[in-house]
Amino acid sequence: MPQTIAFIGSGNIGRALARLAVDAGLDVVLSNSRGPETLADVVAELGATARAATPAEAARAADLVVVSLPFHAYDKLPADALAGRTVIDTMHYFPDRDGRIEDLEERRTTSSELLQRHLPGSRVVKALGTMDFLRLYSSARPSGHPERSALPLTGDDAEAKTEAVRFLDALGYDAVDIGSLADSWRHEAGTPISVLLPYIGEPPTGMTQEQAQEWLFNGPSAVVGAARVEELTDQATRTGRVGLYMEDMFPVGR
Ligand SMILES: NC(=O)c1ccc[n+]([C@@H]2O[C@H](COP(=O)([O-])OP(=O)(O)OC[C@H]3O[C@@H](n4cnc5c(N)ncnc54)[C@H](OP(=O)(O)O)[C@@H]3O)[C@@H](O)[C@H]2O)c1
Repeated sequence: MPQTIAFIGSGNIGRALARLAVDAGLDVVLSNSRGPETLADVVAELGATARAATPAEAARAADLVVVSLPFHAYDKLPADALAGRTVIDTMHYFPDRDGRIEDLEERRTTSSELLQRHLPGSRVVKALGTMDFLRLYSSARPSGHPERSALPLTGDDAEAKTEAVRFLDALGYDAVDIGSLADSWRHEAGTPISVLLPYIGEPPTGMTQEQAQEWLFNGPSAVVGAARVEELTDQATRTGRVGLYMEDMFPVGR
């Protein structure tokens, strides 16, 4: 189990995972696009086992790296510094945020395969992107806890997947290996396993934007076990729009 975890992208997801990693006794190095000094507050909040660095410095300091950027920035990741590392990809393709990416729109590849292509010397595992950042933090439970949830992962390298399973375990989740990076569309945004319904439950109908946000922030959390993860990822189909659109995120007015 690696002792130092680097985070490239330290927004909602990066911070939630960094907090879980610190809780698990791991050292963390956070990074973002604006520079380490802009992360002083979050580092202070995380305590003595956290520090901030540039993305390349963070990557070099750790053997396991979590990347949590808006997907459009994936090709800015420092490939040289990430070579030889296992890279956990939490990212999703949101066309209205990331711009249309034809290879994804035409289903010629998956977002994690594009990342792997950009990082030929790294071992990419897609994981930790199916829950919203609030529940990702609050739903973590120790191994064997009756309310522990499971999360899917995919990757092409068996050793990297084993490492990712151990990392998820340390953070507070069981892992379900659902295949290779070519299969990773089964847990991309907009599929049955992703983000909202399985982990929160069926939303009330007819909500305003404000109510929907309140429901997301303060609504219930459902426990999703390994069998349910398998069922939901099996239900995924490659029909309809690719990726997730903001308008589909919240069930406003329905
Ligand atoms: N939010 C969720 O609940 C959730 C759930 C599942 C999956 N995801 C996915 O996870 C990813 C991150 O989401 P988020 O909500 O955490 O995003 P976010 O809060 O907007 O944070 C994005 C982070 O990426 C950094 N960043 C942007 N460009 C960068 C670059 N070129 N180099 C280094 N760092 C860069 C930003 O740093 P600066 O601020 O300095 O630019 C920021 O720290 C997205 O792909 C998202 O779709 C999110």
